[in-house]
Amino acid sequence: MAEKHLQARMVVDKSFKISDIDPRIYGSFIEHLGRAVYEGIYEPDHPTADEDGFRTDVMDLVKQLQVPIIRYPGGNFVSGYNWEDGVGPKENRPRRLELAWRSIETNEVGTNEFFDWTKKVNSDVMMAVNLGTRGIDAARNLLEYCNFPKGTYWSDLRRKHGYEEPHNIKVWCLGNEMDGPWQIGHKTAYEYGKLAAETAKVMKLIDPTIELVSCGSSNTKMPTFPEYDAVSLEQTYDYVDYISLHTYYGNRDNDTPNYLAQSLDMDEFIKTVIAVCDYVKAKKRSKKTINLSFDEWNVWFHSNEQDKQIEPWTVAPPLLEDIYTFEDALLVGSMLNTLIKHSDRVKIACLAQLVNVIAPIMTEKGGKAWKQTIYYPFYYTSVYGRGQALYAPVESPKYDSKDFTDVPYLDHSVVFNEENEELVIFAVNRSLEEKLIVDVDVRAFEGYTLEEHVVLVNDDLKAVNSVDVERVKPQKYNESTLQDGKLTAVLPKASWNMIRLKKK
Ligand code: AHR
Repeated sequence: MAEKHLQARMVVDKSFKISDIDPRIYGSFIEHLGRAVYEGIYEPDHPTADEDGFRTDVMDLVKQLQVPIIRYPGGNFVSGYNWEDGVGPKENRPRRLELAWRSIETNEVGTNEFFDWTKKVNSDVMMAVNLGTRGIDAARNLLEYCNFPKGTYWSDLRRKHGYEEPHNIKVWCLGNEMDGPWQIGHKTAYEYGKLAAETAKVMKLIDPTIELVSCGSSNTKMPTFPEYDAVSLEQTYDYVDYISLHTYYGNRDNDTPNYLAQSLDMDEFIKTVIAVCDYVKAKKRSKKTINLSFDEWNVWFHSNEQDKQIEPWTVAPPLLEDIYTFEDALLVGSMLNTLIKHSDRVKIACLAQLVNVIAPIMTEKGGKAWKQTIYYPFYYTSVYGRGQALYAPVESPKYDSKDFTDVPYLDHSVVFNEENEELVIFAVNRSLEEKLIVDVDVRAFEGYTLEEHVVLVNDDLKAVNSVDVERVKPQKYNESTLQDGKLTAVLPKASWNMIRLKKK
């Protein structure tokens, strides 16, 4: 008897283009938090450390991910940060109480070291300024220090610190999560909008080539969402280029069907923020369009309880060290699909974060670096998800869960890389019971053959990787076929898939 399965249909055509994908949607984030910087990217005593103290084993893993932009230095950290503490001779840098995460910040790594590190991993800095405890003045000085060529106090100080050439940092965040009561220097939408607009105005006077990100809401559950976004954006609109969105999900009730549907919340979040941006545009009779910077997204919940036990006021405490399961990798895959499907408006996105702190890459002090489960969907999507996002309509069976109705079992995105003559389908089968067979009409891609089908699958939804054992890793899968313009994609139950077609 044939094995029971679900059936779906998809049509893929070159003319259904959503947008060119901005590679910066595969960005990430390093905050001065926990062991992200110290013991993460930077560990001068580590056997693999380079002349600047950066771990080359970690750099290799980061480079594989091809992350084009990395947000820094926070996060909540930035709202209490004095950037001046992190530049100049290391021996003069102060140790500070770091209030966002109640740690000690040694300031051994600061703006210049981080800039150097991003170059080593072939990336760019996305810099955040402190609009919590500070404001216009600190922001303008930092920008002058980083981007002004020479002949002024701050630019010459940078040169004195050994950086003759300006860093030319292009993208700047105007604060972080200023809607959150937990934020140092939390502000109402009006207060934040006013300060951010004035800061933005001054920053663009110094360097009109920069791009600025106005803070939106921290997640869809915030009581002030989406009012905060609308009210603050009304003030910042003329000066900024993007509005930020953040979200983290978790399977707190151990309800996997509901958990895997949470990318629908992300989708709705993006649609609402687009509507907010376009409402403000209409209200202002503006010709300018504001795009979205989804500059914090991931799964974050595993470490919540253990973090309560961590002693305050230590250097590099092991905070937010979520160990990701196989099912987390499925949701991360769907979140990436959601970003691709909205690539006409989402131009920057940052997987939060990159090393040790809710991260795809983990390190042992003095030991190895290793890959979490979520490393893999991010790796494949970043490497192969470049080009044009295509709108590919589907007919998929659906289910209802605790918080969502009409959840398609098939979650997907499609990318056409014209230059490489490649068509890539990323797909998650949300069914925990049955495989999903998808008939894909690819007649528009004549001469293409099936190059590979990579699958992430595991019998145990809670399987994790560790420094010693990699239980969740991609495999080649040979059940899908392509004949006469029809791809029959076989997606195992509870799986993440990448199916790559290439012109021969
Ligand atoms: O990424 C961890 C934290 O999550 C960030 O510091 C903050 O912006 C968000 O709440």
